[in-house]
Amino acid sequence: TYVVLDNCIRCKYTDCVEVCPVDCFYEGENWLVINPDECIDCGVCEPECPAEAIKPDTEPGLEDWIKLNTKYSEIWPNITVKKDPMPESDKWDGVENKLQFLSP
Ligand code: SF4
Ligand code: F3S
Repeated sequence: TYVVLDNCIRCKYTDCVEVCPVDCFYEGENWLVINPDECIDCGVCEPECPAEAIKPDTEPGLEDWIKLNTKYSEIWPNITVKKDPMPESDKWDGVENKLQFLSP
């Protein structure tokens, strides 16, 4: 699976949802996640994210992120159409450790 990491938080550019062939993105107030059970590992979303927030789970150390993507994809609604990024997205892009800002 691919997973969304914390640099998406407070940015939410949503370019990723447009390209996903199986529509497996789910939207919270200030973060998007991928449903790992639905993702078919096509990889097309990774280069679309301006915040470079999407990575394949073949990279080491992503276990906690897979758990969070799984958890929230079961709670949040599906998103399939691009929308405006969050108001201060460019300011927040690149800020480290943004999980503390997650609005669950
Ligand atoms: Fe969707 Fe492909 Fe990205 Fe998985 S890797 S979330 S299937 S676009
Ligand atoms: Fe987030 Fe990047 Fe998609 S910022 S909404 S993962 S395009």
